[in-house]
Amino acid sequence: MIRPILRMGDPRLLRVSEPVREFGTAALRELIADMFDTMRAANGAGLAAPQIGVPLRVVIFGSADPSARNPRYPDADPVPQTVLVNPVLRPLGEEMEEGWEGCLSVPGLRGVVPRYRRLHYTGFDAQGNPIDRIVEGFHARVVQHEVDHLDGILYPMRVRDFTRFGFTDVLFPALQDVPEE
Ligand code: NI
Repeated sequence: MIRPILRMGDPRLLRVSEPVREFGTAALRELIADMFDTMRAANGAGLAAPQIGVPLRVVIFGSADPSARNPRYPDADPVPQTVLVNPVLRPLGEEMEEGWEGCLSVPGLRGVVPRYRRLHYTGFDAQGNPIDRIVEGFHARVVQHEVDHLDGILYPMRVRDFTRFGFTDVLFPALQDVPEE
């Protein structure tokens, strides 16, 4: 079921979400199905449960189509379709990288955000199977963006240079329908 996406200004986006305690439940399956329906309907690149008003540590991101490339990052390897529950992130090294981000909760805007370039992340899939990955670049960026939502952080809070923050159609008039997270 497609659910309404909360927009910046809604206090529910600022909460710290709770860990999932039980895996393989109908409620968790339904939440994840709703998140995928909602993300696809909005042409999104990722979505966190708090964005549909559910304060649980669940994020989804990536594409089921291995040839799909993000138009903002045409050189990046496609990110595999992932359900990540109770994620834990550990940056590998201090190196930060700047990149453009958008967010389904901040529609129509883009900003440059510094993120750790390399990342080790762990967590669980919907059935409770462990996930353990080392990633970099766009994949690392998407995970950091989504997991921030679980701690009540929206990407504009991480923008440092507001000369590179603005409306997508003004910043990038040539780009149409670029996915947001
Ligand atoms: Ni977002």
